[in-house]
Amino acid sequence: MKIIETAAETKAEVKRLKMQGKTVGMVPTMGFLHEGHMSLVKQSVEDNDVTVVSIFVNPTQFGPNEDLEAYPRDFEKDKAMLTEAGADIIFYPSVDEMYPEGAITMVKLASITETLCGVSRPGHFDGVATIVCKLFNIASPDRAYFGSKDYQQLQVIKRMVKDLNMDIEVIDMPIVREEDGLAMSSRNIYLKPEERESALSLSRSFEIVERLIDAEEISADVVQLSVEEFIAGYPHTEIDYIEIVHPERMTEMEKLTEDFVVALAVKVGRARLIDNKFFSVKK
Ligand code: PAJ
Repeated sequence: MKIIETAAETKAEVKRLKMQGKTVGMVPTMGFLHEGHMSLVKQSVEDNDVTVVSIFVNPTQFGPNEDLEAYPRDFEKDKAMLTEAGADIIFYPSVDEMYPEGAITMVKLASITETLCGVSRPGHFDGVATIVCKLFNIASPDRAYFGSKDYQQLQVIKRMVKDLNMDIEVIDMPIVREEDGLAMSSRNIYLKPEERESALSLSRSFEIVERLIDAEEISADVVQLSVEEFIAGYPHTEIDYIEIVHPERMTEMEKLTEDFVVALAVKVGRARLIDNKFFSVKK
């Protein structure tokens, strides 16, 4: 496995491999890898001749009061996990490498970034779209793997690829959860032992939605309020948003007569957790 720190060397290496007719899969990450990330890496290794994993804590997607400095890092452990999984290249650039002085270009999507995390984290998706676009230009992947844990991010990337005519197949992967249902996240490390039970309120709340849908409830407001009440009933929880949205457009739904996604962002102690679930509505 190669560790490459510059864009130029990564480009040259990928070019060389592609000349040999090899297919390239890419998994963009911010490191501190867990089984959620590794499910993407494993799928890429299975589907492609070459897998490039990027590890870069991208400053432009963090707000001024967010956890950029505190964001957990462990490159040696990540390296060992990626070697074991059969990744071929780790692209591990510095901030200066990705944002050299003078860089002024950003990728910005409209409407889809104006709901959910786009509201509570202004500018976040501009940072995500910009860095992912740059990573795609550097590694020229045939396929790129994203987790549906970051559901809105996944839709943003899919839309960007389509709108900018990128020749990349975006593969969405299911949410990997801990045994108790908590969606795996690098930020789960912020949870104190007494907050752990409260963190489960997110995934457990989907059972309430299921029950209401089974009982043929079609009001999004009723479902939203039930989830809110349930999560607020746990200590240490501070709800950022609970929304019922269209699965691609990310716009709010009123009537649950079509497929929808329940998207949640809840602060539990210091950890801002997100989770979501897709619901298919029988017609
Ligand atoms: P990061 O949070 O490190 O996540 C990297 C990828 O792993 C994303 O596609 C994310 O959805 C996926 N992932 C995280 N937890 C998962 C889980 N429990 N199950 C399945 N997949 C999971 O998302 C980012 O980094 C950044 O925004 C990035 C796209 C790298 C741009 O900087």
